[in-house]
Amino acid sequence: MLSTRLLPPRGARVWIPDCVQVWRAAEITRDYEEGDAVLHLCLEDGSMLAYPIESQLPPLCNPECLSGKDDLVALSYLHEPAVLHSLRVRFLEANAIYTYCGIILVAINPYKPLPIYEEEVIYAYSGREMGDMDPHIFALAEEAYKQMVRFGKNQSLIISGESGAGKTASAKYAMRYFTAVGGCLGDSSMEEKVLASSPVMEAFGNAKTTRNDNSSRFGKYIEIGFSQARVTGATIKTYLLEKSRVTFQARAERNYHIFYQLCASAALSELQGLGLRGAETFHYTCQGRCTAGTDDAADLDSTRHAFSLLGVPEADQLELFSILAAILHLGDIAIRGRDRHGDGCFVESADEALGQFCTLLGIEEAQVTRWLCHRKLVTAGETYLKLLSRQQALDSRDALAKHMYGQVFKWMVSRVNRALRSPEGHHTSIGILDIYGFEMFEFNSFEQFCINYANEKLQQLFNLHVFKLEQEDYVTEEIPWVFVDFCDNQPCIELIEGRLGILDLLNEECKMPQGSDGSWAQKLYQTHLGSSHFQKPKRPMDAFIVCHFAGKVEYQCSGFVEKNRDTIPEELVGLLRASKSALLAELFLEDGDGAVSLQSRRSSGPRLPGRPSRRSLPSSQRSKKSISSQFRASLNRLMEMLGSTMPHYVRCIKPNDGKLPFVFDSRRVVEQLRACGVLETIRISAAGYPSRWTYQEFFDRYRALVSREELVGADVKQSCSLALGRLLQDPSKYQCGKSKVFFRAGQVAYLEELRYRRLRAACTLLQRHLRGWLARRRFGRVRAAVLCLQRHARGLLARRLAAMLRRSRAAVVLQKTLRMVLARRSYLRTRRAAVTIQAFARGMFARRLYQQMVRHQKAVVIQAAVRGWLARSRYARLRGAVLYLQCCYRRARARRELQCLRAEARSVEHYKQLHKGMEIKVMQLQCRLDEQVGAAACFGTSPCARPRWSARGSRGPTSEPCQVPGDDTASSWVCTPQQGACCVSLAVIMTARGPGQARQGTPARLGDSGSPGARRLLASQLQEEKQQHEEEVEGLHLDIRSLKQLSQQQAALIQDLQRHQGQEGLQHHVVRLKEENWVRVREQGSDSSPHPIVSCSIPLGNYRPQSSPGALPELPAFLLFLCLRHADHCRDEPRARSLLDAAINAIKRVMKKHSDDFEVVALWLANTCQLLNCLRQYGQDEGNTARQSAHRLQHLDLQSAGRSLGALAVQLYQQLIRTAEKRLKPMI
Ligand SMILES: Nc1ncnc2c1ncn2[C@@H]1O[C@H](COP(=O)(O)OP(=O)(O)OP(=O)(O)O)[C@@H](O)[C@H]1O
Ligand SMILES: [Mg+2]
Repeated sequence: MLSTRLLPPRGARVWIPDCVQVWRAAEITRDYEEGDAVLHLCLEDGSMLAYPIESQLPPLCNPECLSGKDDLVALSYLHEPAVLHSLRVRFLEANAIYTYCGIILVAINPYKPLPIYEEEVIYAYSGREMGDMDPHIFALAEEAYKQMVRFGKNQSLIISGESGAGKTASAKYAMRYFTAVGGCLGDSSMEEKVLASSPVMEAFGNAKTTRNDNSSRFGKYIEIGFSQARVTGATIKTYLLEKSRVTFQARAERNYHIFYQLCASAALSELQGLGLRGAETFHYTCQGRCTAGTDDAADLDSTRHAFSLLGVPEADQLELFSILAAILHLGDIAIRGRDRHGDGCFVESADEALGQFCTLLGIEEAQVTRWLCHRKLVTAGETYLKLLSRQQALDSRDALAKHMYGQVFKWMVSRVNRALRSPEGHHTSIGILDIYGFEMFEFNSFEQFCINYANEKLQQLFNLHVFKLEQEDYVTEEIPWVFVDFCDNQPCIELIEGRLGILDLLNEECKMPQGSDGSWAQKLYQTHLGSSHFQKPKRPMDAFIVCHFAGKVEYQCSGFVEKNRDTIPEELVGLLRASKSALLAELFLEDGDGAVSLQSRRSSGPRLPGRPSRRSLPSSQRSKKSISSQFRASLNRLMEMLGSTMPHYVRCIKPNDGKLPFVFDSRRVVEQLRACGVLETIRISAAGYPSRWTYQEFFDRYRALVSREELVGADVKQSCSLALGRLLQDPSKYQCGKSKVFFRAGQVAYLEELRYRRLRAACTLLQRHLRGWLARRRFGRVRAAVLCLQRHARGLLARRLAAMLRRSRAAVVLQKTLRMVLARRSYLRTRRAAVTIQAFARGMFARRLYQQMVRHQKAVVIQAAVRGWLARSRYARLRGAVLYLQCCYRRARARRELQCLRAEARSVEHYKQLHKGMEIKVMQLQCRLDEQVGAAACFGTSPCARPRWSARGSRGPTSEPCQVPGDDTASSWVCTPQQGACCVSLAVIMTARGPGQARQGTPARLGDSGSPGARRLLASQLQEEKQQHEEEVEGLHLDIRSLKQLSQQQAALIQDLQRHQGQEGLQHHVVRLKEENWVRVREQGSDSSPHPIVSCSIPLGNYRPQSSPGALPELPAFLLFLCLRHADHCRDEPRARSLLDAAINAIKRVMKKHSDDFEVVALWLANTCQLLNCLRQYGQDEGNTARQSAHRLQHLDLQSAGRSLGALAVQLYQQLIRTAEKRLKPMI
């Protein structure tokens, strides 16, 4: 009954059977109570499963710490899934192909060359203990070698496993190890010879099968002899060569390699006479339809080389090859049936294969043909020949071939052994057994039976060995223990080899002439049905089942008897024995002939064919041993030999059938584990105390579980015993030996669990303290770090802030400077633009002004010239007309007067009167002349008349009305100077005649005075006037010339003005003009008469600067100021005020009317400013020069008017700015 403690807890992992993976791991999800029908599990893929509990709980998984252990026996739970899992984990995850399982080394075929067999690895393992290094075939070999050297005891390596599992490879590695570490004593080539035996043995004993391309078709035991730990030689023993392969190969399989090697090298000169061709053309090599090997020709070279190393001469090799070629030709001999019923057969004499066969073996064709188709029957007293059927003949041919090959193989082994034999013998040996493992196919025949029989014997040896070892261990440790469940396979072996066992019955059947498989089967059933290891299959066929240790195997009985008999056609063999070929004869030496050297036989010469020698008596007359008997005997010898050695087991595992590298097929591996006895070892181990620890190991491992009280001084053993008593309680669960403590299965896992919990608790405590300490330390560090960080961060922030402030300030300064630069640049640009604009505008205005002035000047000149011309032409015309009229009139008057005078002349009165009148007239004329002279002087010498006219240009005397002071009537006349002169003359005349006369009309009076004297007078007057007129014209011409000079001066002045262009020049000019004005005003001011401008109204609205190009722009201001000065002079303040108001109003009107006219506004602004300036200069004392103060206005106080003018100036200025803006904007 399971103890409560062993019930799997929740979370524990178990193995459950699986059809694909064989075993699957699962986790228990609910606590299992005793009696529960199901176990609740969670599979690895996450699915839930209610696993039914039938008889026992599923096996528990080992703790993780044990997974991947080197030695499977160290597993706490020793069962199949644990072994399988460990092997899989090691093989797939760690690529570890070797694992120990107690005394067994499990080797999984990697199907991939691994770099673990180099010489360095050999020396790495040499001299090391088994547990020190990773599991390896070298470690096992080293163990065997060490034990042999230490104890002088023979050792053996028993390598078993399925076909293709790597037995031969492992055997070769072991041999290499021994030859490497053992070296060779005396004969240095022995090492080479030992290794050279492998290619020779493989060429003759290996063939390609579906399971293995280089399958050993025989069992081999090679015993390597040692003396003083040095290799001295070796002996090879072979078991049960598969001879049937010589005559038959299954599909995709081949015959023995040597045949293909010979066929592939048929072209070699030394093989020319053997009649070899392609392997596909020989019956014995083409049946598997797989003739191509890796490189058969090269392999023959290796074989021949190995032969040479082994001391087999070339001639013997060639002879051997000719026998092998003869076997191939034998298979090609065509045996034909004589009739349809198959009775009788024959071989054509011209059969080529027969010819080749006989030629190669040196035997007669006729003999061969005869004994192929007949058999000799010996009865009591007589002998006769029986004709064989075709099939019998074919069987006989094949039996001969098989026998021949068997003999060849035997000879080859004997030659190898001879080569490896050491003359001095050996003291100790290590045997390597490379033997087929347990086989269980669908169709199992005689071969499988023998193989499994051998494995059964080996397993028994193994069990005994394991039991013995176990027992030794327990005895050594003084532990009371018995194998309760020791599985002994002796009954099974008894069934096979015991008295009346399967083999006995078979041999009996073989001895019987009518013996058959069927009768043998019946005998088996009768004899053994009661045996527990024997069963009869349910199917009605001749078969039987043997319950082997590795499982039940069903054997089909057919072929058993014949194979066991191994009938040899004696007559044919006799022919071969009598062959000319010495080697052939040697091959067929019968057992017991003794070792007759080939050389001696050769020297004795060929024997006669068909004449059997004394020794070659027909075997039927001798007691020929059956195959099974031979095998049993050799097996027993082997067992004896192995029994006398210390065995070491290597179990080779084939991980998959596809020969794929590192692929693990759990199902196939489990099959092999079961078959090769690994699980049996485990079962035996698990039945006892599988886990063994020395007290020190246990103490070291489980020190954590030992309490303080249990630590009794330095006595580890006692401490362990006390602790185990407390921990495991049940004494049957463990045993304390002398140096070791033994545990039953599962106890180590339990202790591991306890240790894990204790360590976990301790760890938790430690972790708690450590974490606390770490946390505190970390906190301290973090705090310090934080403070440091804060300090640095604050410093950094402060520095950053300072830098930021510095940068901001710098940015502000930069901005300021930049803005200043930009503003300055913009200002300078604008200023430059404004200056440029101004310069251009001023230039333009000046040029315009200049052009205007030039045009004006030219117009004036033209006007003057034109007007002069017009005036002159009109004057001339008028004068002409007047003169004409005068002349006409005077002629008429003169005529009339002449008539009158003629009439009067006729009277004295008249003469008197005339005389009187002439006197008066002379006086008048005299007066008039004087006056004229005075008037001419007055007009001609007037200081201002001509310059004023010339200054005014076209507005001279012709346009301006000339007021004549004095008489009102006369003052209203408007006349030219010339007319005026005429008028004056006429007036003088009229005055002379009296006012009444003058009013009555002068012409009539002149007419009246038309005397010749008068006429003369008149003529003279006219002449004078004409002269005067011409003089005047001349004077006018002079005037014109002077005007031209004046205009030239003006032009020069303008040029001068343009040159100066400066305010200073203008001001200077203005000052000069002012002074001139002043002088003029003063000159005029001396005259008491009012200034003509004062009394006239100035049309301000029409006044434009262009209208008087030569004049100053401020001329109106000067004129107004002159008027004001005049009013001041006259002390006429009201008049001055009204003049100023009128001027201000007029300017305002002009400003209003011409608000958009820049020039007008500028003109009147200049004039307003100028007037204001004049008023300020001359209206007050402060700040004036002495000269200005001397000429200041004496009587007028025009301050209020000055303010009005100031306001007007401001208005004008604003208006000017607006206008300028308007005009400049589009330009800008
Ligand atoms: N340790 C190994 N490392 C690499 N490859 C290996 C190893 N062991 C075996 N092999 C491969 O497996 C093949 C079969 O091995 P081997 O011939 O030794 O099998 P076997 O057990 O002797 O089979 P059989 O019983 O048919 O003779 C070898 O040819 C080799 O390719
Ligand atoms: Mg092999």
